[in-house]
Amino acid sequence: MTDAGFSEEDVARYWNENAEAWSREVREGHDIARELLNNPAFLEFAGDLRGKQVLDAGCGEGHNTRILARRGAHLTGVDISERMIGLALAEERRAPLGIQYVRTSYTDLGVFPPGRFDAVISFMALMDGPRFDLAMRESFRVLRPGGLLVFSITHPCFITKGGRWLRNEDGVKVKWMISEYFNPAGWVERWRFTDAPPEAPEFAVPRFDRTLSEYVNGLIDAGFVLRQIEEPRPSEEYCRAHPSQRGWRDHAALFLYFRAEKPT
Ligand SMILES: C[S@@+](CC[C@H](N)C(=O)[O-])C[C@H]1O[C@@H](n2cnc3c(N)ncnc32)[C@H](O)[C@@H]1O
Repeated sequence: MTDAGFSEEDVARYWNENAEAWSREVREGHDIARELLNNPAFLEFAGDLRGKQVLDAGCGEGHNTRILARRGAHLTGVDISERMIGLALAEERRAPLGIQYVRTSYTDLGVFPPGRFDAVISFMALMDGPRFDLAMRESFRVLRPGGLLVFSITHPCFITKGGRWLRNEDGVKVKWMISEYFNPAGWVERWRFTDAPPEAPEFAVPRFDRTLSEYVNGLIDAGFVLRQIEEPRPSEEYCRAHPSQRGWRDHAALFLYFRAEKPT
């Protein structure tokens, strides 16, 4: 599968390289945007999944998959990176939660029969791979009628390859500037978690910029009924504790959440 100049093999290669550091940093809690903003807001948005058969699409090393399993859902995680899946499986062996992990793409879920899941959830992974249309088609297929699709992504209207902060003379972020919203070319973003120690390596992540309409129409074209979207806003308290994050309260939304249903 190719899109925006990167194939799925390319994506797997990048994430294999990121896997060790990603896993270490996530497990040490250095991804504070996840810990303090994104996970609390998204897990509430996703609702109660206890007792449900849930597919985590793009599960990485399984940090959030384990959170859902500990809350009582029956989890299967898929990821395109064999190293990510290896790390997830090692943790499952060390502290079993009954999670099944499969190395495959969320654009090809042929290992699962139609209607196998009550819910497909994806944490911050669908903007990191090609062919959103196929990801939606496959999610639709593996869900039972009435099943739930819920996913988080970086906000496509603000997180573009041309986005950057404009700062005043004191270095304070005064504006988030957007450009190249319509440019579909793939690019590699290099970044660290906000609280990562200075010696932590940067992640190199292939990005697949899409417009908001591509996400919404991809979902509708697959047959889903869109139920809700959300743009979580950092609290004043969070921004006081982590001033570098204030721009995401004052100027632009960093994340976008979708909730949709497969009609009965
Ligand atoms: C930003 S990480 C998020 C991982 C995990 N959901 C989390 O919250 O920690 C994105 C993940 O998407 C995976 N990914 C990218 N394209 C994929 C695809 N086509 N199929 C399955 N996983 C994919 C990457 O390997 C990576 O593990």
